[in-house]
Amino acid sequence: MPATVVIGGQWGDEGKGRIVDLIARDASVIARYSAGNNAGHTIINEQGVFALHIVPAGILYPDKTCIVGNGVAVDPAVLLDEIATLEARGVSTERLLISDRAHVVMPYHPIIDQLDEQLRGAAAVGTTGRGIGPCFADKVARLGIRMGDLVDPRAFHERLSFVLPYKNAVLTRLYDAEPLPFDEVYATYSEYASRLAPRVTDTSVVAREALARGESILLEGAQGALLDLDGGTYDYVTSSVPSSTSAGAAIGMGIGPADITKVLGVYKAYMTRVGNGPMPTELLDEDGQILRIQGPRPEIGTTTGRPRRTGWFDAVASSYSAQLNSVSAIAITRLDVLDPFASIKVCTHYKIDGKIVSTPPASLGAFNRAEPEYEELPGWQADSTGARRFEDLPPNAQRYVKRLGELIGRPIEIVSVGPEREQVIMVDHAI
Ligand code: GDP
Ligand code: IMO
Ligand code: MG
Repeated sequence: MPATVVIGGQWGDEGKGRIVDLIARDASVIARYSAGNNAGHTIINEQGVFALHIVPAGILYPDKTCIVGNGVAVDPAVLLDEIATLEARGVSTERLLISDRAHVVMPYHPIIDQLDEQLRGAAAVGTTGRGIGPCFADKVARLGIRMGDLVDPRAFHERLSFVLPYKNAVLTRLYDAEPLPFDEVYATYSEYASRLAPRVTDTSVVAREALARGESILLEGAQGALLDLDGGTYDYVTSSVPSSTSAGAAIGMGIGPADITKVLGVYKAYMTRVGNGPMPTELLDEDGQILRIQGPRPEIGTTTGRPRRTGWFDAVASSYSAQLNSVSAIAITRLDVLDPFASIKVCTHYKIDGKIVSTPPASLGAFNRAEPEYEELPGWQADSTGARRFEDLPPNAQRYVKRLGELIGRPIEIVSVGPEREQVIMVDHAI
């Protein structure tokens, strides 16, 4: 049986966790394949509100195997904390496995992340400061420490003896910062290792065996396509290797690309972004503020608590991300946030230096100069949160959703009208 990938089609926080929670019941394995605790996925169900950063959303089902795949950057302290919090709330983490090839976020990574941001000054990316970029940079530079090394005391000692002096030289000579003491780092991380060791295994074998048994795997994307190193608004992007697009999912899980037969693209009914970088439809006016505060879950970052930048739906960026990810079907989330508007704009093209453009430019300068060309749709000014069938939505909300589907160019399968598990429309016919 196949693997399905759930990806974010915008700049992250589209509601991927909420959608994975919804469809996880049909899968036997749920896995994260990229990023680290720069991600924050919120799930609300009868057990309460959960903000997950490394653990896949499937953990809230008692019968699912959950995998932190080889493409994830694992901060062991954060993961242990997340496990402890879940257990304290009565959620069993017994079936949580961690790839022996996943890279470890070491204590110098957040330090370097924050120092790099300071050095960039006005060009700061606005990272989450969790050390994820520097961890992936070390992966690529062949200076990483993997979970398999961490849980083997001799291998860890050997690896840290090589890597830490190197990183301390970088800390002291490049950044004028304090070096980290070997014995302290070794002792602290050895203690983390002993607690995580029973979960560390070759998770790609677990995934491939599940596929061979005819079971379904759900691959939970992090971030969004517009934050991708290659496809996104470089250099205001995240540094995940492999990419958090669907193309990275097979690599980050250790399965083959042909095992993936479905890509569900999650899109908010408008745009948000945390951190810096281009956002052509950003609203700095009262409408932007309404998008930020409307409804039960205001636009506040799950990981850093920063207010999210908000703007009208950008169909240029969103149709591009659908193509980039081979999106086969769409989930639209947070439609209810648009309930109060009398009229709603959708950006169909950019105008850059007087020219009409229908795909995002590579150049940051051009992206920053992109002016949105809007079409205006009537709002519905009615409560959409009670709709459970597409036909229950106010007629103008139906029109709006259909128009997003046309502009993205893919069929709509799910419309979310609230953060809770049952506040959703499963669209079972062409709309
Ligand atoms: P993720 O990173 O893509 O998993 O998204 P986040 O969890 O960071 O942010 C999405 C936010 O929107 C969370 O607070 C969710 O609880 C909330 N949410 C998800 N779907 C809906 C929806 O349809 N309506 C509303 N009002 N909130 C939603
Ligand atoms: P989820 O999975 C929103 C953003 C950061 C910053 C940029 C680089 O919850 O959708 P990083 O710390 O990754 O080096 O920061 O990327 N960013 C996210 N924004 N949602 C996320 O994840 C994000 N992960 C990274 O805000 O702009
Ligand atoms: Mg998030």
